[in-house]
Amino acid sequence: MFFERPDSGELAVLVHLELSQIEFTNDPREFEELVISAGGDPAAFITGQRPSPHAKFFIGTGKLDELKHAVMQNEAQVVIFNHELSPSQERNLERELECRVLDRTGLILDIFAQRARTHEGKLQVELAQLEHMSTRLIRGWTHLERQKGGIGMRGPGETQLETDRRLLRARIKAIHKRLDKVRKQREQGRRARSRAEMPTISLVGYTNAGKSTLFNQITDAAVFAEDQLFATLDTTMRRIGLDELGAAVLADTVGFISNLPHRLIESFRATLEEAASADLLLHIVDFVDDERERNIDQVNDVLSEIGASELPTLMVYNKIDLVDGYRPKISRDASGKPIGVWVSAQENIGLDYLFDAIVELLAENVVHAQIVIKPEQGRVRAKLFEQNAILAETFLPDGSSALEIRLPETDLKKLLAAEGLDEKTLELNDVPTNWPRLAV
Ligand code: GTP
Repeated sequence: MFFERPDSGELAVLVHLELSQIEFTNDPREFEELVISAGGDPAAFITGQRPSPHAKFFIGTGKLDELKHAVMQNEAQVVIFNHELSPSQERNLERELECRVLDRTGLILDIFAQRARTHEGKLQVELAQLEHMSTRLIRGWTHLERQKGGIGMRGPGETQLETDRRLLRARIKAIHKRLDKVRKQREQGRRARSRAEMPTISLVGYTNAGKSTLFNQITDAAVFAEDQLFATLDTTMRRIGLDELGAAVLADTVGFISNLPHRLIESFRATLEEAASADLLLHIVDFVDDERERNIDQVNDVLSEIGASELPTLMVYNKIDLVDGYRPKISRDASGKPIGVWVSAQENIGLDYLFDAIVELLAENVVHAQIVIKPEQGRVRAKLFEQNAILAETFLPDGSSALEIRLPETDLKKLLAAEGLDEKTLELNDVPTNWPRLAV
């Protein structure tokens, strides 16, 4: 389904309007980077101002003439708008310009199509593309020459040219079914991990902040890292070992961008939800980006959207190697809890601080203690066993057992509450240093 990219960049004319009646406009600089990221070669950039979009062409007729001229002069193959176009605006523009027209969603989907790596990610992209197209199917494709592998023509675009609505609907249905299956499998994986008491750490951050690079450094896994937007589309997971905490799962997520169209957030919700169920978020920030603060806000907005804004979060300011003489450090709040670390993922600087902060933050919620369980409280012991929470056990002369346990505090509370007990009923002590470590 996915086609090769053309060898040379496709010549593109970019269009960005400032719309005074619309509060938010997408950043034109980021737009240009997105086009390059999609393999486009910006030949001209048409900008202008209007109070609101023109109903038929989005841009006014004067601007349309200017655009036509730019397309001809540059022999451009595609015109890309930094806005959402209605299907009829796209069609009208294509008729007038006699060249392909792509809107912002189409552009972003194209980038997603190139970057999807896992089965689920590919399915998600295909679904989003098909749904985006199904609203545009009515347009007469015949006025456009078929261009293999052009921007916005990757993914299922090619087959769509020969497909009618009925086939499209059937395909959408089939993908939904496969996605459901993949999601169920992932849900099972998530349950298995939580049974094994493995905390999950999710990397989140604005696109290009350095998530994949950090992920690689931490796990040594070969994850695609390139100086392009969206090098990561799918949540990629690896098991890592943390000194005092044991195993944890590290998850890389899709790079966030500003004003991701709402419908796309929906499409990629499943992937992002993985981040929402994490025990700890590492919010990676490109420390040297002028737009640093804005990007942090954008990421926080998406996090609230997926219900992840309350999760424990550690800010990771990356790329400090680009600032002369900047040293790695860790910052803490008034209670001493780590809130930020300054590192260079690429140069492997400050990662020890990062590990320390992660362990401190995760350990906060983990109970590592010795408890004494009376013979009649055997069910508690059985449940702790089930949860893999018992590290060592010794039987005392009165038939009780002393257990060394390690599990999240919330799980311990839940387990005890189910038995009508609380932490005070059991003797919960620090593990003595001379603890006879009998493996269980
Ligand atoms: P998306 O997948 O698009 O969200 O990007 P990402 O956040 O995963 O960023 P990625 O790791 O792909 O890094 C983006 C670019 O920044 C690459 O060119 C990296 O080589 C570069 N980079 C990452 N970390 C550092 C760093 O510590 N210092 C410097 N100088 N460059 C870095």
